[in-house]
Amino acid sequence: MQAVTFLAPYRVACAEVAEPRLELPTDVVVQMELAAICGSDLHVYRGVEVGLDAGTTLGHEFLGRVIAVGAAVQRVRVGDRVVAPFSVHCGACFFCQRGLTSRCEQSQLFGWVAQGRGLQGAQAERVRVPLADSSLAPLPVGVPDAVALLAGDVLGTGFLAAEHAGVQRGDTVAVLGLGPIGLCAVLGARDLGAGAVFAIDSVPERLELAARYGAVPIDRSAQDAVAAVRARTGGRGADVVIEAVGHPDASVLAWQVARCGGVISAPGVHNEPQFALTPGQLYDKNLCYRAGRAPVGAAMPRLLARLQRGDLDLAPLFSHRLPLAAAADGYALFDQKKARCTKVLLEPRRS
Ligand SMILES: NC(=O)c1ccc[n+]([C@@H]2O[C@H](COP(=O)([O-])OP(=O)(O)OC[C@H]3O[C@@H](n4cnc5c(N)ncnc54)[C@H](O)[C@@H]3O)[C@@H](O)[C@H]2O)c1
Ligand SMILES: [Zn+2]
Ligand SMILES: [Zn+2]
Repeated sequence: MQAVTFLAPYRVACAEVAEPRLELPTDVVVQMELAAICGSDLHVYRGVEVGLDAGTTLGHEFLGRVIAVGAAVQRVRVGDRVVAPFSVHCGACFFCQRGLTSRCEQSQLFGWVAQGRGLQGAQAERVRVPLADSSLAPLPVGVPDAVALLAGDVLGTGFLAAEHAGVQRGDTVAVLGLGPIGLCAVLGARDLGAGAVFAIDSVPERLELAARYGAVPIDRSAQDAVAAVRARTGGRGADVVIEAVGHPDASVLAWQVARCGGVISAPGVHNEPQFALTPGQLYDKNLCYRAGRAPVGAAMPRLLARLQRGDLDLAPLFSHRLPLAAAADGYALFDQKKARCTKVLLEPRRS
């Protein structure tokens, strides 16, 4: 079958790979119908996140139809249309019982194989899904596929970033980084009743989308973002900062725009060897810093139900829809933000 494989930094290719098969009784195999490229794939693509084996199939955002089920699978059936969270979980361990499915004792991330161990990705014609009963959710009726796909990562990560920050009604919120995650964090903060939401980036079309989502856009390439937030918050800074970038410069900016006693919620994935902030910097502003892989598996059922209300304007997040065979172009466009690229959907060959 065809799959998007990682060869080396800035080199991905659609190539012929081995068919996935049922390996454990709790596995299913899904015929992929729609996948997407995530900002997390870019860390690997750019060579910033290292350790992935060359030849690994990339991708962790997908939906499709179940075509094979293992002997122990009870809830998921052949023919079901399902959406997956970006990592699988057992649903029964200490962490799953507490809703932290992203740290499940049996967690595996799609598209991460290191030294021969791990789970192949979802930018492929077919995908093996372990722990299928606890991980997969049925596609809801009435929600467009591209929008439902967002529940498995982008929407969940953005909304949970706002929830984990404890956004209260009327809070001022600054969102750093207006990729799909930051844009969903804007929507999540507004859903929780935030007051002013300041959306900071330098990419015009992303700033436009943030404004469409009700945020105050701040172009950090044209103005001093810290001064702009302070000027609108009585000189104090924002109550909550959501750092959806994953770069040390953004950690520093988050610290600068947060008010004393505020919260920094950081879904951004960091690969630098040292934390960009010092303990003293957090101490001196009495800040709470919350980071980590989002437990979207636990949140997916309620997020899919939320999507059924149909009042979240998520379709504009997608700028490109390409065949799997053109995935390399999709990575380059998304990486360089060319052609107003905000998010790329990938479709398998049509037969
Ligand atoms: N925690 C999780 O579970 C989880 C899940 C998915 C994605 N992520 C991470 O979230 C981050 C965002 O993902 P995405 O898909 O939106 O990526 P993206 O690359 O599309 O967006 C990043 C945005 O940040 C902007 N940016 C860069 N430096 C900045 C700075 N110093 N200040 C403000 N903005 C800056 C860029 O212009 C870009 O628009 C990535 O680090 C990704 O790995 C985390
Ligand atoms: Zn993702
Ligand atoms: Zn578990």
